[in-house]
Amino acid sequence: MIPANIIEDIKFRNEIENVISQYVTLKRAGSNYSGLCPFHSEKTPSFVVFPGTQSFYCFGCGAGGDVINFTMRTENLDYVSAIKVLAQRSGITIPEDNEANVNTGVSRQRVLDMNKEAARFFRNMLFDENIGREARSYLFDKRKLSMATVKHFGLGYAPDSFWALHDHLKKLGYTDKEMTEGFLCGKGKNNSIYDLFRNRVMFPIIDVSGNVVAFGGRVLDDSTPKYLNSSDTPAFKKSKNLFALNFAKNKCDKMLILCEGYMDVIALHAAGFENAVATLGTAITSEQARIFSRYTKKVVISYDSDAAGQRAADKAFNLLQEVGVDVKILNMSGAKDPDEYIKLFGSGRFAKLLDESKTRIEFEIDKLLDKYDINNVDDKVKAASEICSIIASFSSNVERELYCNHAAKVFSIPEESLKRDVAKASARNVKKEKSNQMNEIYRVSSGIGDRINPESASNMKACKTEEAILGMMQLHSEHLIKCRNELKADDFITSFNRRVFEKMIECYDANGKFDIAFVEEDFNINEISRITKMVIERQRLDSNGADVLDTCIKSLKAEKNREDAVSNLDSLENLFKKKK
Ligand code: CTP
Ligand code: MN
Repeated sequence: MIPANIIEDIKFRNEIENVISQYVTLKRAGSNYSGLCPFHSEKTPSFVVFPGTQSFYCFGCGAGGDVINFTMRTENLDYVSAIKVLAQRSGITIPEDNEANVNTGVSRQRVLDMNKEAARFFRNMLFDENIGREARSYLFDKRKLSMATVKHFGLGYAPDSFWALHDHLKKLGYTDKEMTEGFLCGKGKNNSIYDLFRNRVMFPIIDVSGNVVAFGGRVLDDSTPKYLNSSDTPAFKKSKNLFALNFAKNKCDKMLILCEGYMDVIALHAAGFENAVATLGTAITSEQARIFSRYTKKVVISYDSDAAGQRAADKAFNLLQEVGVDVKILNMSGAKDPDEYIKLFGSGRFAKLLDESKTRIEFEIDKLLDKYDINNVDDKVKAASEICSIIASFSSNVERELYCNHAAKVFSIPEESLKRDVAKASARNVKKEKSNQMNEIYRVSSGIGDRINPESASNMKACKTEEAILGMMQLHSEHLIKCRNELKADDFITSFNRRVFEKMIECYDANGKFDIAFVEEDFNINEISRITKMVIERQRLDSNGADVLDTCIKSLKAEKNREDAVSNLDSLENLFKKKK
């Protein structure tokens, strides 16, 4: 356990508004701050930072907590690692002996160390005279990579064996559990362990701090699956990493190039475009879009030229636009992907494509001009309506104005009527987003599909009272003391809230106060958000006096008695039935 006073010190020196403003543009709103939520995509801010309680809460998606929870979420870290990051950020050292045996499961650091060994092993296998022969011929002859490139990216080869890596790591002291949790090995029938990557060229995924966080592996022929990628592990979240960002991060002042594949990125870097990155075997996520916005102002999407690639580009466009980067798309013909394009036409031609890359509007207009014959009235109406909904998806008024002007010229439609339609469509979008938020609020407030407290749906009233009590307990320590004296865990009807109550009391008894940070290890991040929501809701109500708390306590006890009476009745009824 990290001592409570150190955790407090760390929180004290990492003011939540400072930490969050490195990720989110915050605007002052009274004594709080608001901004666009980094945990779900939205255009109107529902994310609020409360300096008073040092917490954050998103009224749209329900994410909330303290600075530790925020760091866990954004950096994909466990509790202890998040504390370490914050400690480092504020120059606090955590005593070594407190670090040991903090983690019960497989730790991030162990997986990282193991991955580094695995990467070294794969590299050695690639350059093993016999074992790596076929793989070398694939990389050097077939894919035309240079030795420098292969070394730069640390490429390797996973031999055609079910045990080679496993046995190697075992010798180094890694356990089967570490290997399976780290997605290097799988577990077969009767718990046998085997290597997951076999007979594949290996691409290590390296994060911006230089850790090998995961692997992608490609077959040497046409067998399937073509690529095998690590799934999420204690050290890796696919949706939060980008391939080659470790290199590109130093070359991204002007822009980043987003590709679909590992090989595209490698070919681009080899050709001098060291600002290319790729997602990891999946479509771009909103978290990855946010990474782009942290590193650069401009992104050029350079996806495959096939239909699937273009559909994926549409999605990437939207996500990147939402995080406020300037997005352009590269129009590539004559080759399937950037790797092939550079091989066929050279890097000069690719540089030209980059210069000629189009804005969203130009790109969409070109697509519509291809699809419709604007000399035909029906077609023109369709094209106009499609361009309207695209323009409406931009949140900036200036952009919408400018694009209306441009589109009106291209399609020769009156600008004023285009503007009116865009305004209508954009109002519809705002309304839709609001209504999605309302649905979410309804869903949460009625307890439907509540995975954190599944008992809330059938105990609505009691649950509300419990949450009010737990919220007030967090707000004022007098309230906490009062509840400690007047309530027992058994008075709580829903088991999640009962657990929260127990932990709060435990924490108070141990530390003389309650801080969410002290119990953060006992709950998962979403549970922490729920506990935070309880205090945020009380804060918004402004009616948190002792009298209100009294009423809540009475009401909970009454509810409990009613519950008990019902269950007594049930058992009486059962007894009666039995007797009969
Ligand atoms: N991908 C994957 N699994 C597959 C196929 C593709 O994870 N079965 C991911 C990989 O990250 C790959 C990217 O999607 O890099 C693009 O796929 P594709 O265009 O098919 O591959 P290329 O990058 O062109 O690969 P190559 O040139 O080696 O054929
Ligand atoms: Mn390719």
